[in-house]
Amino acid sequence: MKLIEIMEKAHIGRYAIGQFNISTDEQITAVIEAAKNLNSPVIIGTSEGERDFIGVDQAVALVKTWRDETGLPIILNADHCKDFNSAKEIIDAGYDSVHFDGSKLPFKENIEITKRVMEYAKSVNPSIIVEGELGYLPGGSDIHKEVKINIVDLTEPEQAKEFVKKTGVDSLAIAIGNIHGMKEGGADDPHLYLDRLEDIRRAIPGVFLVLHGGSGTPREDLQKAIKSGIVKININTEIRVAYKNALKEFLEQNLDEVKPYKILSPAMEAVKKVVEDKIKLFGSEGKA
Ligand code: G3H
Ligand code: ZN
Repeated sequence: MKLIEIMEKAHIGRYAIGQFNISTDEQITAVIEAAKNLNSPVIIGTSEGERDFIGVDQAVALVKTWRDETGLPIILNADHCKDFNSAKEIIDAGYDSVHFDGSKLPFKENIEITKRVMEYAKSVNPSIIVEGELGYLPGGSDIHKEVKINIVDLTEPEQAKEFVKKTGVDSLAIAIGNIHGMKEGGADDPHLYLDRLEDIRRAIPGVFLVLHGGSGTPREDLQKAIKSGIVKININTEIRVAYKNALKEFLEQNLDEVKPYKILSPAMEAVKKVVEDKIKLFGSEGKA
């Protein structure tokens, strides 16, 4: 199945595909094991820092190996490319999908570079998926004390329409009150502006809508957002926290253990649990 068809199927079936961010080989294994258990499509995401760590070519090779072995729809996405060269590098390396994040740039410049990425990506690989971003999301994928949402940063439906028309992107990451990262102590993020999502959906009905900052978002909001047209949800911080906590706990309790495959097993289990929970929540179980 072509990548666009995997997204189209989610769009029509009113479920979302999870993008799970990783930076190590065993985290990929954990995500794929969850996908295998639940027969679900998945997107593996790597931000610039994450792919610097695991290696761009290595990420492509690992995902290809898993796709060949399992036959599952597994998409590799380069998350938050901040400039054209960063996008070009991963397009040339054979990623399935590219996210150019020009959300901090002036509107015109965001359109210009997104369009350039779009044209280059499709000239190299016509079936690659290109995701643009409009509206500003505060925070990074870690634990924070307080992050404020400014209404002026939310995606404007009319601007989204112009952005999509001028760039031709397949997907659009939008800001509707979502934030990267999670609050200290595990408290829920603020509610999403679901009315804004409805307005955006009406303005750009043919585009796949993406929700970044899925960690910590109230569960019922995620389900409502999927009903209103979100087809891809990105999860990073919850994976990072689960991985780190399991690793810390194991090492504290097993001070003499030196075998990496023993040390890392509980962390992999913890990642798998997070991913399985999200697959069920997003409704993509059994949709592979
Ligand atoms: O691009 C990655 C995501 O937007 C992750 O957000 O760390 O809040 O899950 P998160
Ligand atoms: Zn993001």
